[in-house]
Amino acid sequence: MPLIKEIDTGTPIRVAETSVTLTIDGQSITVPAGTSVMAAAMSMGTKIPKLCATDMLEAFGSCRLCLVEIEGRKGTPASCTTPAEQGMVVRTQTDRLAKLRKGVMELYISDHPLDCLTCAANGDCELQDMAGAVGLREVRYGYEGANHFDAAKDLSNPYFAFDPAKCIVCSRCVRACEEVQGTFALTIDGRGFASAASPGGTDFLDSECVSCGACVQACPTATLIEKSVVEMGQPEHSVVTTCAYCGVGCSFKAEMQGDRVVRMVPFKDGKANEGHSCVKGRFAWGYATHKDRITSPMIREAITDPWREVSWDEAIAHAASAFRRIQAQYGKDAIGGITSSRCTNEETFLVQKLIRAGFGNNNVDTCARVCHSPTGYGLKTTFGTSAGTQDFRSVEEADVVLVIGANPTDGHPVFASRLKKRLRAGAKLIVADPRRIDLVKSPHIRAEHHLQLLPGTNVALVNAMAHVVVTEGLVDEAFVRERCDLRDFEVWARFIADERHSPEAVQDLTGVPAAEVRAAARLYATGGNAAIYYGLGVTEHSQGSTMVMGMANLAMATGNIGRDGVGVNPLRGQNNVQGACDMGSFPHEFSGYRHVSDDATREMFEAMWGRPLSAEPGLRIPNMLDEAVAGGFKGLYCQGEDIAQSDPNTQHVVAGLKAMECVVVQDLFLNETAKYAHVFLPGSSFLEKDGTFTNAERRVSRVRKVMAPLGGLADWEITLKLAQALGYPMRYDHPSQIMDEIAALTPTFAGVSYARIEELGSIQWPCNGAAPAGTPIMHVDRFVRGTGKFMITEFVPTDERTGARFPLILTTGRILSQYNVGAQTRRTANTAWHDEDVLEIHPFDAENRGVRDGDLVAVQSRSGEISLRAHVTERMQPGVVYTTFHHSRTGANVITTDYSDWATNCPEYKVTAVQVRRTNHLSAWQDLHDAEEKILTRIGDGSVPEAAE
Ligand code: SF4
Ligand code: SF4
Ligand code: SF4
Ligand code: FES
Repeated sequence: MPLIKEIDTGTPIRVAETSVTLTIDGQSITVPAGTSVMAAAMSMGTKIPKLCATDMLEAFGSCRLCLVEIEGRKGTPASCTTPAEQGMVVRTQTDRLAKLRKGVMELYISDHPLDCLTCAANGDCELQDMAGAVGLREVRYGYEGANHFDAAKDLSNPYFAFDPAKCIVCSRCVRACEEVQGTFALTIDGRGFASAASPGGTDFLDSECVSCGACVQACPTATLIEKSVVEMGQPEHSVVTTCAYCGVGCSFKAEMQGDRVVRMVPFKDGKANEGHSCVKGRFAWGYATHKDRITSPMIREAITDPWREVSWDEAIAHAASAFRRIQAQYGKDAIGGITSSRCTNEETFLVQKLIRAGFGNNNVDTCARVCHSPTGYGLKTTFGTSAGTQDFRSVEEADVVLVIGANPTDGHPVFASRLKKRLRAGAKLIVADPRRIDLVKSPHIRAEHHLQLLPGTNVALVNAMAHVVVTEGLVDEAFVRERCDLRDFEVWARFIADERHSPEAVQDLTGVPAAEVRAAARLYATGGNAAIYYGLGVTEHSQGSTMVMGMANLAMATGNIGRDGVGVNPLRGQNNVQGACDMGSFPHEFSGYRHVSDDATREMFEAMWGRPLSAEPGLRIPNMLDEAVAGGFKGLYCQGEDIAQSDPNTQHVVAGLKAMECVVVQDLFLNETAKYAHVFLPGSSFLEKDGTFTNAERRVSRVRKVMAPLGGLADWEITLKLAQALGYPMRYDHPSQIMDEIAALTPTFAGVSYARIEELGSIQWPCNGAAPAGTPIMHVDRFVRGTGKFMITEFVPTDERTGARFPLILTTGRILSQYNVGAQTRRTANTAWHDEDVLEIHPFDAENRGVRDGDLVAVQSRSGEISLRAHVTERMQPGVVYTTFHHSRTGANVITTDYSDWATNCPEYKVTAVQVRRTNHLSAWQDLHDAEEKILTRIGDGSVPEAAE
């Protein structure tokens, strides 16, 4: 495998309806209008020397290396900033140009340390390349004059180094931070000879920098360079794969030396990210080879026994015989499994197949239960498909963006950069969120409206917006008449027009002034293309499904569905949570969201799988745990999910796990759930296997193996072994064969195959005969269900109430540098930014309790008590506190409640009534956690793996 070098056309490729024809070095070429002379030349294979230009950035024209001659024009214009014109005659190679370019290079090189042979970028440095390209052999100006060779290095960022001595002041880093990332952390400090790139007069770690890596990628020299390259040297081959963190699904080149990753470089042809990245995918991949990885299968009789390392065969046989014994003793339905949204589509498909056909029941669920299950329910009911409506590119056509209950700059950073670019270009932003998230006000962006609602009042807010649309005559009647079920619409319109839904009637409830809601609703309805992007702040509520349908109602009523720039779009959490749902991970659905009670579908699966299948929906995760506590559910196969940390009411989860007789955990690390397991099967990271992930835009992308599984087997191979031992052999030699079976059984995947993905790069489902290249935008001419269905969305307050004992509302979320339960990111240098979870609290609430910034505070709810440090901040509104759940020792879910979405059981993580007080000791739960850690994770001789806290 060679090192993939993408072609850099110097300036961005334009798309235009008109084209121009020009002559370059005697050759005629036609390009889209607006294309630069440089890009036109590059596209016909003529390389023009350049330093300040790159096709990821708008042309800047500062280095003067790309000069050309144009007939009829004076001087030598820069080709990067000169647009190609009809009839233009350009010369790129003349003696005069060669002399000028050599002179420019000479000036650069005279202030550049000539340590090429020992420089980490040797062989991957554009300055070096350009010196060669212009034929520079000597420098007349000497090196003894003023220079920057002694400038101090900045090594503060954990992942990249900054050596200003090598800076050529091309501004590529500054522009990358502005144009691509949208953070504006860098400037060129000083003037003239004294000028240099700088992270705002401080070091990188203390600056506004969010470590996305865009500047490092843009830098043509070794000034900004990955520390891994400095330590390991240049990579020698690369493989394109997909990030294993969030649902944006960025494409990366894993650049390798042998089977060691040197760096992950965002792939320009990746359609989800177009060459951009965030700190997690770009830099936080070291967990994959962290010393905490468990690479031997282990078993134990009781959870209080130390783990015993055994062979794969022994571990698998142990698990299979325990499951069979339990079924013989307690019945077929006494066991079940959980698929992983971290694993590939193929692996997820196999686990649910094993459960349905091998276990003989439908007791399969996935972590989408606790995040986006209301999305599935709500969008399927209203539109007919359990997925977002757009591709990410669509946001570039939006005029108004409504972000509800999502924090894209932290949760979905690469999409956030794309969104911010559109907002800087003039689109209007409405944010509905209890916290003042960064998007509300960031460099060159200010939300028109921040609807700072109280947690738990989403439905009242969206109803109030719809009320304004209906009562102020803002309905897109033509769209509704043509595309939606009219009877449902009329019933809904009468319901929503009722005065009790008006912004004035609900403002005391939501906390959002009525005038603000009216203005936001008018903007959404009349501002042009309006797009909704939402996150778990919508779904993780007792009315999560109602809220999803409320947003769908709003979009349909205003005609904002079925074209570029509009839509209703869930920002999905985990890399493959969309895929896990698509693959049939829910207890009531086969792949492609078809109900298990549908005879025709079930018979098709029975014929393919050779086993009778149950028509009864199985148990959801919370039901499995309830049944376990009640004594009827005894065995669990848990692939790549840590329910003891991620699911609500930890005490109840732990009680359920402790009540089981065989818990099999398949994971990279001994996680919280593994403390209560009897069999541990070492899982494989995304670098160790082939497969596919499906991102939030329904895009199916390849995951490619770059190293052998550390434990010897990829996750799909482990499931095959378990199936074999359970007497249900499945035979596949490669994940591509599993995808072929998925395609054969799933109409929306009928056209998906590894060969087709190879051809197209990635595919957005539905991909079938009707859409052989996939479907970027859904519901274009008609809704998947035929007509759009308006649903009644009555606001019902949650049963979780504040009062004298618990006067504050706790809501939870994520931050940029950490990821979910933290199993991966806590094992990387990302802890430099967030090494413990903190409680964000408004100064008013803090002062009332005598709490100062940094104090240890106890947070108590009706479920339990934890302690953590306070961070006093005006991001919060009075009455609402916030924390993350990235560190197991925090135990954020010890205090969340059992309340859940009425339709899907998605837990109500976002609303917990709490009290906060100063304390000077850890909570009883945390003491218990620490004590159990020592007992329940012992391996062999009694050694305990170091906790990654
Ligand atoms: S890493 Fe990203 S955020 Fe930080 S300075 Fe570079 S471009 Fe800006
Ligand atoms: S740090 Fe790199 S990209 Fe930035 S101005 Fe210097 S040489 Fe150019
Ligand atoms: S935005 Fe998401 S998918 Fe992209 S690099 Fe970051 S974590 Fe990975
Ligand atoms: S590449 Fe055109 S001026 Fe620098």
